Amino acid sequence: MRVVSEEAPDKSTSINLLERIQAAFFFKDWSIPLYARRYYFCFGGITFFLFVIQAITGAILTIYYVPSVEKAYASVYYVHHYVNYGWLIRSIHYWSANLMIIFVLLHTLRVFITGSYKKPREFNWVIGVFLFGLVFGFSVTGSFLPWDQKSFWVTTVMFSFLKKIPMIGTFFYQIMIGDDVLGQTALTRFFSFHIMILPAIIVFFLALHFYIVRKQGISRPL
Ligand code: HEM
Repeated sequence: MRVVSEEAPDKSTSINLLERIQAAFFFKDWSIPLYARRYYFCFGGITFFLFVIQAITGAILTIYYVPSVEKAYASVYYVHHYVNYGWLIRSIHYWSANLMIIFVLLHTLRVFITGSYKKPREFNWVIGVFLFGLVFGFSVTGSFLPWDQKSFWVTTVMFSFLKKIPMIGTFFYQIMIGDDVLGQTALTRFFSFHIMILPAIIVFFLALHFYIVRKQGISRPL
């Protein structure tokens, strides 16, 4: 005879709720497999953590930053030297930007070495390539914003090379610089890309990246 429990299954626990949400999105198990509990499987997560820090500190910096060729440098100087803890917020933004580049490189290397780009994860690798480009886009547009000698000349030299790329070079230059020399048009556009256009695009690609990781699960090492 089959023994049926008198007790109704407890549907109120958080585990049950999680399971139901999980089932609704067709995700695999929430638990992290043993083979993925190695430090080099954390590089992607660390990159994302740094991105969140960037977003928070960047939002604070926009309270004071003025995207005008007359006032940009002075506004950055003001934040750094006169605003309470302004130097700290600016330095965290600067250092986590550098760390983000290092960790996105390490993450890409990990994915490559463990062969995680192979079927069925090719599409997520392609999304990763876009993410890679976007991270560098943040770096290029952000380093121009202080409007000091370094940012001006680094960007001038970089874009004079970019202009030489056959077919797309001049078009790209026109989109970003919009003038013969770097000036107000370029500063406005770099600012807009740095704080609005690139963040909107990267959030979309990150959501897709994470959705696919959750759906497919972490790959086994080779
Ligand atoms: C903003 C940049 C990026 C963030 C925040 C990010 C984040 C993540 C996270 C959290 C994971 C889960 C596993 C792990 O952490 O290793 C992951 C997996 C993955 N990422 Fe990224 N990623 C980024 C860029 C890239 C790039 C540049 C590539 C390659 C060109 C890439 C390709 C992949 C692939 C193929 C997986 C699946 C790996 C597996 O299943 O083992 N990602 N990513």
